[in-house]
Amino acid sequence: MTSSFRASYDFFAPPRIVFGWCRRAEVGKLARSLGRRAFLLHGSSTLECSGVLAGICGCLRQEGVEPVEIGSALREPEVVDVDRTARALRESGARSNGGSGDVVIAVGGGSAIDLAKAAAAMATNRKSPTVKDYLEGVGAGLQIDEDPLPLLAMPTTAGTGSEATKNAVISSFDPPFKKSLRSDRMVPRIVLVDPELSVSVPPTTTAYTGMDAITQLIESYITVKASPIPQAIALQGLALAAQAIVLAFRDGGNREARERMAHAALLSGMALANSGLGMAHGVAAALGIHARVPHGLACAVMLPVALRVNQGARPAEISRLGEVLCGRGFSSPEDGARAALEKIEELSSEVRIPRRLREINVTRELLPVLVKSSRGNSMSGNPRQLSDEEILSILESIL
Ligand SMILES: [Fe+2]
Repeated sequence: MTSSFRASYDFFAPPRIVFGWCRRAEVGKLARSLGRRAFLLHGSSTLECSGVLAGICGCLRQEGVEPVEIGSALREPEVVDVDRTARALRESGARSNGGSGDVVIAVGGGSAIDLAKAAAAMATNRKSPTVKDYLEGVGAGLQIDEDPLPLLAMPTTAGTGSEATKNAVISSFDPPFKKSLRSDRMVPRIVLVDPELSVSVPPTTTAYTGMDAITQLIESYITVKASPIPQAIALQGLALAAQAIVLAFRDGGNREARERMAHAALLSGMALANSGLGMAHGVAAALGIHARVPHGLACAVMLPVALRVNQGARPAEISRLGEVLCGRGFSSPEDGARAALEKIEELSSEVRIPRRLREINVTRELLPVLVKSSRGNSMSGNPRQLSDEEILSILESIL
């Protein structure tokens, strides 16, 4: 037998996933099953301009759900953003009360969904006024003891997969950290994926978020915490994303490409929520905080070197990734692994991802800081355990 099989595992996923072109029209009925007042949190202003939000509000009213706009997420969420949104929810008297209370609806990319997940949790968990006290590795170590307000997530960017995960990534720049708020209770109750919502996403964001999804599919497949169901869905997601990302980047209106990327992103969230990630995401968190590199871009720059570094620890798995990415078999694991790396480099260059850290404003002086900040949940799942010296020399090799 060439690859490992973990014969004992847990698996979880959002209780209800509704996927399909134009299915955002069902948001009223779906929201009505969770509550009677809906607090809406959205991402980019494009949604407002294109009338998408007005359409969603209309669908909600039709079903007797009162929409209330609670805010927007125009950047990756920071502690202050979560605290402000949670305070607004509390001051509005938001409460979950079976199907007759309130629901939070997030329409946007990972930033909007993460902000909504964290604020929905902080609205009902009130041991501290700041989310910082609940974040992993910083603050007071408080736990999410109470169920958050129910969340309906409508992803628009086909990238982070946050709609299917149990954590929200929250940043701070003073002091600098990027940490997760995590609880099984935070998984969105309903995920409504309408790939048509991603048509207006610009090419650069399509590239970054799409490469984030690909990185998540690959890292969750080879991580030390990998298990059978996430591995199976990761392969399906990767096959679809490999076929679609360049087309979605070049022709944003291509329905099939957008559908494939939206599904791949959803699967990447389900895979990472169960298996965790690896080195690329560990360093990406540090790049986000210390060089302000957008998450997907940081992952994309790190992915080729992460594959190279882990090849010796996961030869069979990386070779399998090569087969899925290229859609054909190879005569040896070495050939498969080489093909995986070449295909990722080819996709990256087609969607204009830079190859070197200096192209994303990283200087040599910053490298030791990046090494220090890259330790966390993601790095702990990397197949090859890496010392600080090794991480430093890996970063130097792609400077
Ligand atoms: Fe990611």
